[in-house]
Amino acid sequence: MKKDLIFILDFGSQYSHMIARRIRDIGVYTLLCNYETSISHILSKKPKGIILSGGPFSVYDNGSPLISKNIFQLDIPILGICYGMQLISFLFGGKIEKSKSKEYGKSYFMIDHSNNNLFDGIPKKSIVWMSHFDEIKEIPKKFKIIGHTSSCPIAAFSHLDKQIYAVQFHPEVKNTEFGISILKNFVFHICKCIPNWKLNNFIQNTIDKIKKRVDKKKVVLGFSGGVDSFVTAYIIHKAIGSSLNCIFVDTGLLLKKERERISLLCKKMNLPIQIIDAKNRFLSRLTGVIDPEMKRKIIGEEFISVFQKESEKIQDVEFLAQGTIYSDIIESSSNKNQLSDSIKSHHNVGGLPHPTFMKLKLIEPLKELFKDEVRKIGKKLGLPKDILYRHPFPGPGFSIRIIGEVNEKKISILKKAENILLQELKNYNIYNSVNQAFIILLPVKSVGVMGDKRTYEYAAVLRVTNTEDFMTATFSHLSYDFLEKVSNRIINEVDGINRMVYDITSKPPSTIEWE
Ligand code: XMP
Repeated sequence: MKKDLIFILDFGSQYSHMIARRIRDIGVYTLLCNYETSISHILSKKPKGIILSGGPFSVYDNGSPLISKNIFQLDIPILGICYGMQLISFLFGGKIEKSKSKEYGKSYFMIDHSNNNLFDGIPKKSIVWMSHFDEIKEIPKKFKIIGHTSSCPIAAFSHLDKQIYAVQFHPEVKNTEFGISILKNFVFHICKCIPNWKLNNFIQNTIDKIKKRVDKKKVVLGFSGGVDSFVTAYIIHKAIGSSLNCIFVDTGLLLKKERERISLLCKKMNLPIQIIDAKNRFLSRLTGVIDPEMKRKIIGEEFISVFQKESEKIQDVEFLAQGTIYSDIIESSSNKNQLSDSIKSHHNVGGLPHPTFMKLKLIEPLKELFKDEVRKIGKKLGLPKDILYRHPFPGPGFSIRIIGEVNEKKISILKKAENILLQELKNYNIYNSVNQAFIILLPVKSVGVMGDKRTYEYAAVLRVTNTEDFMTATFSHLSYDFLEKVSNRIINEVDGINRMVYDITSKPPSTIEWE
């Protein structure tokens, strides 16, 4: 059975991917695409509904992102959210103005028309999450107001004849009390979707597809040892058995005993793995390089040339598999109109040369999934907990956690510090309640005093974050006791660090890694 689809046109909101997540959580497949996606492309995907996301623009701004009015003639239900609502109003001739004050945060939403499919089963008054500076002053002809807040008289409207709805608040944000119910109403009652995005089907369908596509050829897999690459390898292995060749490249930029951990786990899971020691070539190419994007590009290039060299040794290799996931793709895609900037070249997407350069075809079985979906798949496949819940480790490894130039001494300092952090996260039973924790070594030295002696060593940063999908994150609110313990141990046990600081920024505005 073909899966039902909700198409989301992205106007650059920091919450756009949350819309995609929430709808997948209720069992319906979503695609998040640039607002410039052509109508013919949208139609070719046969969506049951279209959502216009929020965005940081004003519809009257010069060059603000607009879409063709033809989208409203498709006879496909449409839901506009925030900027998406203002855009619908603008395109139908409504009037939008700057609000007296920017409205950000909690508001009480009142439903004006209870016989409205979008608000079925929702109390007349509920909490919603607002984040806007423009608001609709006059709705276009043929629309009616279906909800308001005390400071926003037109907080929701719908078309009188067509299936077009819009809300000024963000139903995808958890702080909107009945946000999921609103999305469910849109997806199930209005778009008539069936919840047929099931991860069980995903596993079997993916195995079948890979079997058919690969046939009797061989696949090399860039294996990193994280949950994404384990799940990728496991699925492909189930599909084609020994035609899969996993290659793990030891860049020398890894956590302590990473090679040993990986070969042990692969043995346990019966996965064929080849470990390539490429420490020297990575380090020599990184010498003198300071620019973060340059480091990422170098790592990407080196990875690919190692793969190419190794894959040439295997007969009949036609495919390169990678554990790319959906957030890698969203974050690496540079939007033509710079709505959402290309943040970083994640090494398994933007940092790699194009596959045609390598003469191998790409297989990326997880590229439609978010991280938590990958974990669910891994759980269904029976992967051990220490793989499933292991914190992610970036492909470029320590090269982006050592700010400035990378050298052997700094790698050894960071390795020891990260190992202490890992031990204490486990001692304090914190590892599983945070999503990613690591140390960043700064290229800054500071003065300290140890055993009555002056020290002049590096400062390092402790970064611990909580996140649902790694696209937004908050710093973890850890106890002073834990922070003190980690800091004391690192300073006492690691030669080369004499000062620790804790990073208390969220993503956005920061990112999780520092480079
Ligand atoms: P940022 O720093 O972009 O990180 O907020 C989001 C998540 O992605 C990981 N990350 C990477 N993973 N290759 C990877 O496989 C990369 O190049 C890369 N860069 C960042 C990061 O550790 C965090 O989990």
